[in-house]
Amino acid sequence: MPETRTAPASLPAPAGPAPARDPLFLRACRREAVERTPVWIMRQAGRYLPEYQALRAKHDFLTSCRTPELACELTLQPVRRLGVDAAILFSDILIPLPGMGVPVEFRPAPAISRVVKGRADVLALRTPDAREATPFVLDAVRLVRRELGGGVPLIGFAGAPFTIAAYLVEGGGSKSFAAWKGLLFSEPATAHLLLEKCAEVVASYLREQVRAGAQAAMLFDTWAGILAPGDFRTFALPYARRVFEAVASVGEAEGARPPRLYYGGEMGGLLESAAEVGADVLGLDWRIGLDAARRRLGSGIALQGNLDPAVLLGPPGLIRERTGAILREARLPEEGAAEGERPGSSPGHVFNLGHGILPATPPDHARVLVDAVRELSTRSAS
Ligand code: CP3
Repeated sequence: MPETRTAPASLPAPAGPAPARDPLFLRACRREAVERTPVWIMRQAGRYLPEYQALRAKHDFLTSCRTPELACELTLQPVRRLGVDAAILFSDILIPLPGMGVPVEFRPAPAISRVVKGRADVLALRTPDAREATPFVLDAVRLVRRELGGGVPLIGFAGAPFTIAAYLVEGGGSKSFAAWKGLLFSEPATAHLLLEKCAEVVASYLREQVRAGAQAAMLFDTWAGILAPGDFRTFALPYARRVFEAVASVGEAEGARPPRLYYGGEMGGLLESAAEVGADVLGLDWRIGLDAARRRLGSGIALQGNLDPAVLLGPPGLIRERTGAILREARLPEEGAAEGERPGSSPGHVFNLGHGILPATPPDHARVLVDAVRELSTRSAS
């Protein structure tokens, strides 16, 4: 049952008649054959959209995340403008931090002044339940589901424990991650305790989003690619896997397991390990071809990606060409080469950028991408 603590009126009641089939995006995540390749864009709500800027001119970023009506409106903006096949909740991976006792500022890059330096700081971190610490996120999920009805599905998300811990120790992004990696290797027991606490918080945060109505659950492990393969298996993989297990148990109890998506940057050297995280879909950046990834992983996992976001700064003709090239790379070996201009769709591919859309992207170019995926992945002329 969905969480019933808040007003029943805000539960994700299916609006109108139920769709004949599950939404395209969910079917592709499960590697079912699809009529075309679904597409959405990482960071699709953001500064490149004038309507986002207009709303943000009146409300700061944290207020926007903490006010369900604003978060809902920002979630829906790119769905309306671009016609993407999935919505992703407007929030941030660092939203659970204040509940752990760590304030965060966005300038717009995240800045944490009270960083975790050692064991005492880790012991002081709180591990609250998401219903207590971030009820506004769950209300936003319920609101978005009500607005979207049974059409476009909603992705709930969180930062993976390794990446959240990296922010807690570094205080922000970093080039070398010397403080976080230093802790891993000088005080591994403290690092593991921190990762355990992050996993507990993230598991509750993502699980409650699914209970509130999110139809897919995504973990962003943006910084896991800084690790050597053996260290990835020690410090990142088990904790992300634990979160996905917590999410699966909710879905199974309710009879519908939501697809789980795992994204990491620079995963080329970690691919086989990343595929063991328990995700249905592995999101990749552009530094590895989908064909090369497929050869290494086989067809037992869906892949998401992986256009270089900077391509959207180029002309529409180039965007279309590169979109076609990625659709071809996504073809399974047994499908053979695509003939003619249309590469068609392949089971187990969700089109996306390889990382978040850049603020300088002309919104029309994002639309060119979505239209190109729709057209080029539809197998027969319509
Ligand atoms: O549309 C969506 O994708 C949903 C919203 C979303 C945001 N952040 C909103 C946001 C999502 C999924 C994220 C994830 C996120 N946040 C990640 C993982 C994905 C990735 O990009 O690797 C990371 C590492 C963060 C941390 C973070 N938050 C950074 C580095 C920044 C600043 C730089 C930037 O890219 O904008 C933020 C702020 C932030 N999060 C903004 C938005 C729309 C910009 C805030 C503003 O309007 O000024």
